[in-house]
Amino acid sequence: MLRMAEVHAGYGATPILFGVSLEVRAGEAVALLGKNGMGKTTLMKTAMGFLKPWRGTIEFDGRDLTRLTPHQIARLGVGLVPENRRIFPGLTVRENLELGLSAVADRSAAVRRRRLEEVFHHFPRLSERIDQPGKTLSGGEQQMLAIARVMMAGAKIILMDEPTQGLAPAFIRHIRDMIGELKRLGVTVLLVEQNARMALSVCDRGYIMEKGLIVFEAVSSELRESPVIREKLGV
Ligand SMILES: Nc1ncnc2c1ncn2[C@@H]1O[C@H](COP(=O)(O)OP(=O)(O)O)[C@@H](O)[C@H]1O
Ligand SMILES: [Mg+2]
Repeated sequence: MLRMAEVHAGYGATPILFGVSLEVRAGEAVALLGKNGMGKTTLMKTAMGFLKPWRGTIEFDGRDLTRLTPHQIARLGVGLVPENRRIFPGLTVRENLELGLSAVADRSAAVRRRRLEEVFHHFPRLSERIDQPGKTLSGGEQQMLAIARVMMAGAKIILMDEPTQGLAPAFIRHIRDMIGELKRLGVTVLLVEQNARMALSVCDRGYIMEKGLIVFEAVSSELRESPVIREKLGV
């Protein structure tokens, strides 16, 4: 579904990705693990079109993404839940969710209502807070809102960048369950996580990234037992 091959990218003249290749198949949840500063966020920003790859190919459902804008990429069904959950603190929960619809061609009242109902079915907690400003939500609720927003957009694949960062254990479990639920709904997930154990408990496969390269790839059961976890992640 999403395939990156030999992708090079960076900021200004500074290279960060040195030929990354990875693949996420439809319906899979795949973990992307690695220490801080290894290029995981850069990879997601490049997939989403915020950074242009210097070399290499990025395809989604067989379509070349490398010349598209982030908005066009979102419209194809790629959703990014960015690092540090960038919700709009001054906008209400409803307004934050409706922003997700900007990536949807049909924004009629009927579509808006149906999408909101779907999202509230999965996140009843958000429906209780529908008219509250985003900033009054807890960290875990803001993370839910960030995920719900890409669901509003009808994303087929969700790129999640460290969704459990700074959250209490109960919310970490909730996020994990939510990823399991997305899988059951047929949504494909690429998950960047510091919490390797949590990521591998919900993902089918994992990649390990080091200094802008994928250095290891395995199914989760194998990766969990592998010494590379300690070597490359220090856990
Ligand atoms: N906007 C930026 N401009 C310049 N360098 C950046 C920028 N964002 C990240 N970097 C650098 O790119 C490298 C990889 O960062 P990042 O992709 O955020 O890693 P990770 O998500 O794995 O922690 C780091 O050395 C970081 O300092
Ligand atoms: Mg990062």
